[in-house]
Amino acid sequence: MSSSLIQTENLVKTYDTGEVPLRALDGVSLDIARGEFLAIMGHSGSGKSTLMNVLGALDRPTAGRYLLEGEEVGEMDVEELADLRNRRIGFIFQSFNLLPRLSALQNVMLPIRYRVGNRIGGEEREEASIAALESVGLGERLHHRPNQLSGGQQQRVAIARALVNQPALLLADEPTGNLDSKSSEEIMGILHTLNRQGVTIVMVTHESDVANHAGRIIHMKDGKIISDGQNGKMSQERAQ
Ligand SMILES: Nc1ncnc2c1ncn2[C@@H]1O[C@H](COP(=O)(O)OP(=O)(O)OP(=O)(O)O)[C@@H](O)[C@H]1O
Ligand SMILES: [Mg+2]
Repeated sequence: MSSSLIQTENLVKTYDTGEVPLRALDGVSLDIARGEFLAIMGHSGSGKSTLMNVLGALDRPTAGRYLLEGEEVGEMDVEELADLRNRRIGFIFQSFNLLPRLSALQNVMLPIRYRVGNRIGGEEREEASIAALESVGLGERLHHRPNQLSGGQQQRVAIARALVNQPALLLADEPTGNLDSKSSEEIMGILHTLNRQGVTIVMVTHESDVANHAGRIIHMKDGKIISDGQNGKMSQERAQ
């Protein structure tokens, strides 16, 4: 098996909203190895979220191929896609996307409840969710609802929820976009720890100091990748 976690070939995504179809992705070919920490940068509208949504199997490309762990995502049926999203991919978003009426613990337990072919009992689900919340430093906030938590804490709940099924891939679309600099640093610290533990991370950000946490940075413009390179600072740190 190749060491690639993700391989895309000429991904195209067009939207037919105006008179001229809009090419949100215009031939994106990308190879991401297991264990990488990749940052995606680019101006607003350059196609970053569109790419993340395709990589996360939330959206299908108009053309091109996407292989995750060597499997053709384009050939998966609805059930296989749901299973893929649930068990192999974790997501975090700028706006946290927690369910407001549920506690931190209940939010984290949700993806386990929805696991396809689920056979694990309630107690085991709860234990796994508590462990995930403890791993992001929220062991003391299990029963708080989102509006009783700070932004950084809410994002940590979202990370715990993304991780509870131990996915190989974590996709983060501007995870620090709504956070102050101290909370941002905390979130980046958690992402680093996860990456060291072997989780592959793909993260969109507008901020270069956030992107500098990644080992590799790509820049997008008009739906295309215009640069792709190792981040010097990080590769030195990694070499130590
Ligand atoms: N559902 C949609 N229907 C029509 N056009 C869309 C849709 N989603 C995105 N677009 C267009 O596709 C292009 C890429 O959008 P995308 O959300 O990927 O940009 P982005 O790089 O994530 O921007 P931002 O930094 O503002 O989040 C934009 O021009 C946008 O208007
Ligand atoms: Mg976006």
